[in-house]
Amino acid sequence: MKPIVAGVAGTVLLAGTLFVGAVISDKILGDANGESKESAEQTKIPTTAAAQSAVYAPPSIEEVPDGPMKETILNGYELVNNTHVAADEYVGNQLSCTSCHAGAGIDEQAASLVGVTANYPQYIARSGDVVTIEERINGCMVRSMNGKKFDMNSEELEAMVSYFTYISEGVPIGAEREWAGTSTMKNVPIPDVTNGEELYAQSCITCHAVDGSGTGANTGPALWGENSFNDGAGMARMSKMAGYIKTNMPIGAAGTLTDQDAADLAAYILSQDRPEWANHDKDWPNGGRPNDIMNKEKREQVKNGTIDWEKVLSTN
Ligand code: HEC
Ligand code: HEC
Repeated sequence: MKPIVAGVAGTVLLAGTLFVGAVISDKILGDANGESKESAEQTKIPTTAAAQSAVYAPPSIEEVPDGPMKETILNGYELVNNTHVAADEYVGNQLSCTSCHAGAGIDEQAASLVGVTANYPQYIARSGDVVTIEERINGCMVRSMNGKKFDMNSEELEAMVSYFTYISEGVPIGAEREWAGTSTMKNVPIPDVTNGEELYAQSCITCHAVDGSGTGANTGPALWGENSFNDGAGMARMSKMAGYIKTNMPIGAAGTLTDQDAADLAAYILSQDRPEWANHDKDWPNGGRPNDIMNKEKREQVKNGTIDWEKVLSTN
């Protein structure tokens, strides 16, 4: 999608090529994280076309140059790659950021975080507000990690943001990251939960265990139960879960599942019990709440056979 440069109240000339909107209208609407790219409204800091060409070429963690930033970047990498150990007092489950953002955010297909610091601050429809990168990390902390927020000036956030900035080298401010949002399925087929259960037993239990509790945050993370993400996480939505499975799983044979298989698996996984998010009613305060969030009510409906999948999947 070509972002439309609209609602720019002032522009600044940078390096002769790049125009950055200095004021973001507080009326902008739209969806975040590739959820509804049809929206013509600007949600990211607007830039001219010259800033749009972003190339996927993150530096590796082995190449961090010596100097005063090195320890902080390496600490950030550790916090992202081994979160439930490195920040155990903040994490409420057995996941690390790597459990979803594979390769500590460097893997191109699995919710890549390369270039993420060039895309924040950003308007996020779920929050109904402009969100900084620190706030976005805390969003994954309280939902995907079922844990607590880091303090705004904590060493943890400082280190993670330093690491994300390091792997975002060369991505221009406001660039469209073609590789972001690839894990969202646009049209999710009506799922068959029983088939999902069979597929799960065939292709997933070696790493994720029969009861979904997993074999380790970075070898086969918990997919449901108390050590998994809560139902306020992006991954608790059918479109995100099915898309992630289709693009990335099973490891070693990624890309072999059909959309239907991935939807069946997603429906089976998301109909199992998981921690509940207490603030569903505060999400999407300006409207646009998607129907595919698999909360407790929908899990019950799957169990008692009353779920209306057409309706659940109607906004995707
Ligand atoms: C259970 C899976 C899961 C875990 C664990 C997780 N995230 Fe996320 N995260 C997501 C999903 C899904 C998105 C939305 C991405 C999308 O829609 O493309 C996201 C989005 C993000 C974004 C915004 C990305 C963007 O392109 O705008 C950041 C930053 C982020 N996560 C950081 C983290 C950090 C840091 C951790 C660990 C503390 C973490 N996440 C743990 C699933 C997860
Ligand atoms: C060989 C081991 C392996 C197999 C088999 C496998 N996974 Fe995974 N899975 C992983 C690893 C490792 C991760 C962490 C991300 C990464 O490294 O790619 C992961 C992450 C995930 C995630 C995101 C993390 C979370 O907690 O939600 C989902 C969803 C998932 N797998 C579903 C599946 C499904 C469904 C299957 C079967 C079709 C499957 N996986 C088969 C190893 C495996």
